[in-house]
Amino acid sequence: MASVSSMIATYEKYFNPKTKYDIFCGPGSSFKEDTVQKPLKWLVKIFNSGKLKGDSFMQIGMTYLIHLLLPATKAFNEIFVADVLDINLQAGRKWQEKEPGAIDISSAVKVFCELEGHGEKGIEKEDELRRKNIQQMKCDITAKDPLLPKILPPVDCLFLVHCLETFSPDKETYPKLLKNISTLLESGGNLLMIVWLNCTFFMVESFKVTSLCVDDGFVRKVLTETGFVIEEFTVVPRSEKNLYSLTDASSALYVVAKKV
Ligand SMILES: C[S@@+](CC[C@H](N)C(=O)[O-])C[C@H]1O[C@@H](n2cnc3c(N)ncnc32)[C@H](O)[C@@H]1O
Repeated sequence: MASVSSMIATYEKYFNPKTKYDIFCGPGSSFKEDTVQKPLKWLVKIFNSGKLKGDSFMQIGMTYLIHLLLPATKAFNEIFVADVLDINLQAGRKWQEKEPGAIDISSAVKVFCELEGHGEKGIEKEDELRRKNIQQMKCDITAKDPLLPKILPPVDCLFLVHCLETFSPDKETYPKLLKNISTLLESGGNLLMIVWLNCTFFMVESFKVTSLCVDDGFVRKVLTETGFVIEEFTVVPRSEKNLYSLTDASSALYVVAKKV
């Protein structure tokens, strides 16, 4: 695996969170069914079931998927996002402060409102999320204590989207990183994961990022061996329309697992 410092240097050189948002999630994106519609539909269903509630919710490895925090706003009092890159944390702050040039999630908020039956209340719902005062923090999940200094007690719910497969150089490292992440989660708390299956790469603008190719059987085994009880495990094929030049993932896996 490239070292964390060389990964940071590469991402900071080639990478703009807003451009990435527009390519993968924006209104003109060929990918938005897989990055906006389907994950929001799944999250709305899960949060509306009332099973996932608590005080604190954290999305780790968040570049730009701000809209996927919307379903958690009513279920959790505190929302945190953590990433190793300053540019990603800055992009989140820019959105939160409504600064010019910030990521525009309005089309995804509209989808969320349609799913929730909120009609035209997009701006209101986006502001509701802003008022949660999302706390941004630096973390490195390759470290045994990913949040150092340890500024936070374990959270009630952890959310990872396309993370472990992109952080792990090989199948031996994957469970180690999951164990590191698991220290941030309270016992009895829930891990939500969206995982690309059979994915070998994705594009960050002109830069090709290698992904560890995993299947659902591998993820199931790792979760079980790392101390999680799987509560929901669904494979959703990717939409035919989106571009294979952006990534070769065949499908996404949606998981809810409880830390024992
Ligand atoms: C492929 S993206 C995953 C998609 C992501 N959930 C999003 O919102 O775009 C990988 C994310 O993980 C972050 N990341 C990479 N290595 C990391 C590490 N060692 N610790 C924490 N975050 C890391 C990257 O900065 C990036 O935001």
